[in-house]
This record gives sequence, structure tokens and C-alpha cells, in this order.
Amino acid sequence: MFLPESIRDDFPILSREFSDRRIIYFDNAATTHKPRQVIEKLVEFYTSYNANIHRGLHYLSQKASEMYEEAHDKVAEFIGAKERRSIIFVRNTTEAINLVAYGWGLRNLREGDEVIVSTLNHHSSILPWLEVAGIRGAKIKVVGVTSNGRLDMDKLREMINRRTRIVSIVHMSNVSGAVTDIAEIARIAHDHGAYIVVDGAQSVPHMPVNVRDMDIDFLAFSGHKMLGPTGIGVLYIRLEIIEEMGNFITGGGAIKEVHYRDDKFIVEWARSPWRFEAGTPNIAGGIGLAEAIKYLEGVGMENIWRHERSLVEHLLKRIDEEGLEEHIRILGPRSLDRRGGIVSFTIEEMDPHATAILLDREMIAVRSGFHCAQPLHEELGFRRGSVRASFYLYNTLEEIDLFIEVLKRMTSKTRTSS
Ligand SMILES: Cc1ncc(COP(=O)(O)O)c(C=O)c1O
Repeated sequence: MFLPESIRDDFPILSREFSDRRIIYFDNAATTHKPRQVIEKLVEFYTSYNANIHRGLHYLSQKASEMYEEAHDKVAEFIGAKERRSIIFVRNTTEAINLVAYGWGLRNLREGDEVIVSTLNHHSSILPWLEVAGIRGAKIKVVGVTSNGRLDMDKLREMINRRTRIVSIVHMSNVSGAVTDIAEIARIAHDHGAYIVVDGAQSVPHMPVNVRDMDIDFLAFSGHKMLGPTGIGVLYIRLEIIEEMGNFITGGGAIKEVHYRDDKFIVEWARSPWRFEAGTPNIAGGIGLAEAIKYLEGVGMENIWRHERSLVEHLLKRIDEEGLEEHIRILGPRSLDRRGGIVSFTIEEMDPHATAILLDREMIAVRSGFHCAQPLHEELGFRRGSVRASFYLYNTLEEIDLFIEVLKRMTSKTRTSS
């Protein structure tokens, strides 16, 4: 059995004292902490083989290029992709989805085509499609959620048709924690000749994800949400559709050859992924991400998934046992079926930001507001947003118990003051 206590020492920030207290970090959906192994890898890069990649014949450049290329291979293996060509390094999930919208959408969407997004999505997998569909005259269709914050699959089945070109869906909601059946949506999308774009920002870090098992076309995720550095993210593109991609960001590094002859430029693009990674990339970030993946694999994605769900189970059980459920309104499924380690809630009439500030005074870090998913909150009647506790492999049952004690005090305070 995996015990979080066995790895906590790897995370220097978790043992840091803030006014004699340690932080309880429940803001992992926003970003995660980094283990020593990742931090040391970044130091190793800058102190041992710092150089630009693919631009030098000298030793340092060769070594940096090799490490950066191998990082792509590590990512490919981690998500079950066949080849490095499918793995594009970008800055984050947001940039990855923009790369699909501008790279694929701008070139391939036509007037009258349809793009399906969901209110379950993070803004990052809605807004790029609004922009590009707007430019191309395509129509946006929106699939809503059920009352417990899951994608409304029946509605999706009704909505999809032969005009649908893209279905852009979040895998695990960063608010409700609900996990959508992506393999089933991929099947429905492909039956109608559409592609599926999966926002894996909250799934890839927390559960085993295999692009080939799910048979998906695009997958976006961020390194900083999976123990890696900030500024590095990934777009997976199914091999067979890479050539349908137009360019989004071009420049140095994206081409094999460029000539200016007879008054015009002739460009031969580099092979993927380099064609889509123009300019000096985040070399250290890519290498750091590969190290983070090695760390996650060392613990085991199944173990991480199981552990986080046991934390949610414990939290929901304690809320119930302590009679808190009449004071705490949860946005999301109560059952553990297809659900990850995120619990969003409000306490009675208390403003979510006020709740987060009170929790911060107890050294419990959560996020408050709309978590970049305002349509979802509005659809479910959480007009002022919610407070979000999101867990990762280093969180413990003891931290959940401390959290419950604070929630008990907070609800009794609101009871006596109202
Ligand atoms: C589901 C989901 N999608 C997209 C994003 C955007 O990630 P990033 O800010 O790393 O681009 C987030 C981040 O919170 C997220 O949770």
C-alpha cells in the first residue's frame, strides 16, 4: 500500500515552517509542489549541460538536445503514444489547446461546421474555440452538465451530427472532480467524423491515461500540475492527423530549409514536433518534466489515483459523520464512481473568498472563486463561486482530519453569528 508519509520528505516546501506551522496544501489543481529530484534536475541542466538545442555541434548543445529529445520520448511512453512526433512541448494546457484551435481549426473549419464544447470545461478549452470558430464562421454548440456536475452524455449524443468537426472536452473537471468517459465520447465523435480534443490538465497528473486505449485525437496537459516545472506543457496529436495541422507559431527551429528566390519564399517545414516548437523552447522545463514523470512512475499512477480517492472518501465520510452536510454544499458527485481528488464547496452563506482567507489563517491553502469555470458555477447555481480543496500524492488522512476540525469551527461560527 502506498503511504504519502513515505514521500513527503522529497518535497522541501512541505517541511518548511511558516510562523512555526507547516502548510496544508490543498491547492494542487492550481499547481503542485516539486520534489527534490525535479529541482535537482533543473540545477543539473544549468550547471552541467546548459546550451541551446539543435543549434550547435559542440558537446553542450549535443547533450542538451539529446536530453530534450529524450524528454519527448518519456512523455510519449507515459501516455501511450507511439512516437516522439506526436508530442509537442508548449508552455501549458492553455497553449496546447490554442495550438489545436489555431493550428488545426483555422485551417480546417468551414462555415456551417460545428464545434462542441461543454460548460464543464475550463475556460481554456472554451475560449480558443470561440475565437477560431468566430473567425471561420463555424458554430459553437454547448453541452451542459447534470445536477451533480457531470457531463450530460445524453445531450451530447443528441447534439452531435455530421456537421460536428470537433468535440472539445475536459477529462476530469477542475471543479467537480467528475471524470468523463472519454473513450465513449471518442467513439461517438469518430462515428460522426469528428475529432476529440481532450483537456487532460487534471487527469494526466492523477490517473493512468493512455491515448491509444481511449483512441483520442488530441490531448493537452501542463507539467506544473504534475510535479514538473512551470512553463512546460504538452500537446499530443494522433500521428495520422499531424499533417492536417497548419502553423500557429513559426520561426527559427520550425523549418528544415527556407529560400528566397524569384521574389518569393520557399519553405520546407521541419518534422513534428520541431515544426510546432519554433524559437528556443523551455529546455530545462522539458527535461524537468521528464524527471517528474519518472518520479510519478516510481510511485505508480494507480497508487496515486487510489490514494487521492481515499482522501475524498475520507473527507466525504467525515463531513457526513460530523453532521456538516447541512452547512456545506458540495459542487460535484457524492459517489466515488468516476471521480478524482477535487472537492469544491460553499459553507452556508459565507463568501468563498472569505472562507479561503479563514482557512489560510489556519495554514490551509485552497482556491476560491470560479476556478476558470464560471459557466459551470452559474449553471449549478453557485453564483459567487466555490472553495476548492484539491489533493495530490503527498496529502494525508491526518490533513483531512485537521481540515474537518477547522470546517467544524467555521460552521459553528456561522451558525452562532446568523
Ligand atoms: C481542467 C483544466 N484545464 C486547463 C487548465 C489551464 O492550465 P494552464 O494554466 O496550465 O494552462 C487548468 C488549470 O487550472 C485546468 O484545471
